[in-house]
Order: sequence, then structure tokens, then C-alpha cells
Amino acid sequence: MTKKRVALVTGASSGIGEASARKLSAAGYRVYGTSRRGSQAGKRPFPLLTLDVTDDASVGAAIEELLRLEGRIDVLVNNAGFGIAPAAAEESSAEQAMSIFDTNFLGIVRLSRAVIPHMRRQGSGRIINIGSILGIVPLPYMALYAASKHAVEGYSGALDHELRTQGIRVSVIEPAYIKTQFAANNIEPDVRLEEYDLIRAKLAKVVSKAMAEAESPEVVADVVVKAAQTLHPKMRYTAGRLADQLNFILRFAPASFLDKVVRKSLQLDAKE
Ligand SMILES: NC(=O)c1ccc[n+]([C@@H]2O[C@H](COP(=O)([O-])OP(=O)(O)OC[C@H]3O[C@@H](n4cnc5c(N)ncnc54)[C@H](OP(=O)(O)O)[C@@H]3O)[C@@H](O)[C@H]2O)c1
Repeated sequence: MTKKRVALVTGASSGIGEASARKLSAAGYRVYGTSRRGSQAGKRPFPLLTLDVTDDASVGAAIEELLRLEGRIDVLVNNAGFGIAPAAAEESSAEQAMSIFDTNFLGIVRLSRAVIPHMRRQGSGRIINIGSILGIVPLPYMALYAASKHAVEGYSGALDHELRTQGIRVSVIEPAYIKTQFAANNIEPDVRLEEYDLIRAKLAKVVSKAMAEAESPEVVADVVVKAAQTLHPKMRYTAGRLADQLNFILRFAPASFLDKVVRKSLQLDAKE
């Protein structure tokens, strides 16, 4: 059994999860990542456990395996998640809404419930949830994704209050656009309504430009390490320049200004 601090990062096969796992390893943690494909997801400087966050049995088995190997868990980074390609809210069925919540929100609930008893027994632990700036600033044509990330905010804030006296702290990290495979891994809405074809084409351009210019996942990973290590973690951290700006506008500018910024950034009222 190890004396080193042990961290588990879900969705560590790529992007923000992989960068966070690498940075936590470099910071001295004994890190395990997860992927639905397990170790078949490729070679990395940390082992990958097989995990599907939508499956109770898979979550139970991964945590059992981690505890068998290490006997403790100090940091859980709930990172696994996906989006629905920019799509109108009415283009997704209730089943599709349930499926995005199943991964982005209930995945966090499942993992948290699996690790909390162990962290409580240890009298310490950190749960770090990768939310999104869309968890506090809802963007159109990402309605279900934004709703799932709002759920992450509410859950994280409540949980942090509940667990603080047990030595466990919960933080949520809110990036904006980050250059990863996220947009490429977006799933299509259930139906494409032709009424939205024009705005869909316009948004595809806006989002691909924003993703091309976006900051790297290491920017988020640095915040993950900070939330894991600092003595007094905050409940919310923005990550990256754009998220900082939007958070600032949300806090200090009139709501009508944020409304304009959102519409302008997506060119929603542009003529062509
Ligand atoms: N990139 C951005 O612009 C951005 C901005 C704000 C927030 N975020 C959030 O950051 C997190 C990571 O996204 P990313 O940008 O790094 O995208 P990514 O490169 O597509 O990575 C997503 C990861 O999630 C895993 N995953 C997806 N569904 C899963 C499931 N059911 N069970 C287990 N793992 C699952 C994938 O692993 P496998 O396919 O190997 O299983 C993959 O490692 C997400 O929560 C996303 O919402 C991203």
C-alpha cells in the first residue's frame, strides 16, 4: 500500500483529463486515469483503468480496483463529458437530454458516491469537478450541455458544504473554449430541423475559429493541480482568459451587457 497521495482522473484518454493526469503525476501524485477503452486507449505515463461513468457496476469495479491497488484515494477529478454539436434545444429528444445528463452530471454523482465513504474514513479528500463556463453563463444552441453543467455547479456547491467538516472539499473548474477533441467528439442532435440550417452553418464557423484560437488543456490542468494542493480550496475556479472575462462580466456588469456579449460572440443577430 502506498503512502503517496493517490489521484483518479476520469476521461483521461485525451484533452483536459489527460493533461490533468500528467500534471498531477508531475506534482507527485500517484495517478490513475480512466477510459471506456481501458488500457487499450494507448500508452501514457499513468495507468488507465476501464470506466464508463454511466454504468454503476463499472464505477464500483474501478473504485474497488483502485483501492485494491493503492488502499486510498485522495483526489477525484470528475472530467469525463461530452457535448451535443451546436444544436437547437428542440432538436434533441428527452432521451438525448437524459443521455448527456447521464454522463456529464450523473457520472459525477456516481463517482462521488463511490469515493466519499473512503475519503470520510481517511478524514480527507478533494473532489474536483470539470464544469464549464456554460455552467454559469448559458449559451444558446448548447442548451442541454449548459443545463448539465449548471447541474454540476449546484451539486458541487451543496456537496462542498456537506463534506467540509469531514475534511473533504469539493471544487468545480469552469473553462471556456479549450483546444481538445471536444468539438470533434460532440454528438449530433436527434433531428436536424431545416429552420436551423443557416444558424448551424454560421455557428460551425464561429466554434471552429474559437476552438482553433483556444488555450491549451494545460491551462485547465494547472488549475486542477492548484485546487488539489492548496490548503484552502475555493468552490469555484475559472480556467483561462475567456472564462475569466465572462465570469467578470457576469459578476460586475448589468445582465443586459452579458446578453449582448453572448449574442455578439455567436453572431446571432448578424445579417448574413
Ligand atoms: N474543450 C472545451 O472547450 C471544454 C470547455 C469547458 C469544459 N470542458 C469539459 O472538459 C471535460 C473534458 O473534455 P475535453 O475537452 O478534454 O474533451 P475530450 O478530449 O473529448 O475528452 C473527453 C473525455 O471524456 C471521456 N468520456 C466521455 N464519455 C465517457 C463515459 N461515459 N465514461 C467515461 N469516460 C467518458 C473520454 O474518454 P473515452 O472516450 O476514452 O472513454 C475522453 O477521455 C468535459 O467534461 C467537458 O465538458 C471542455
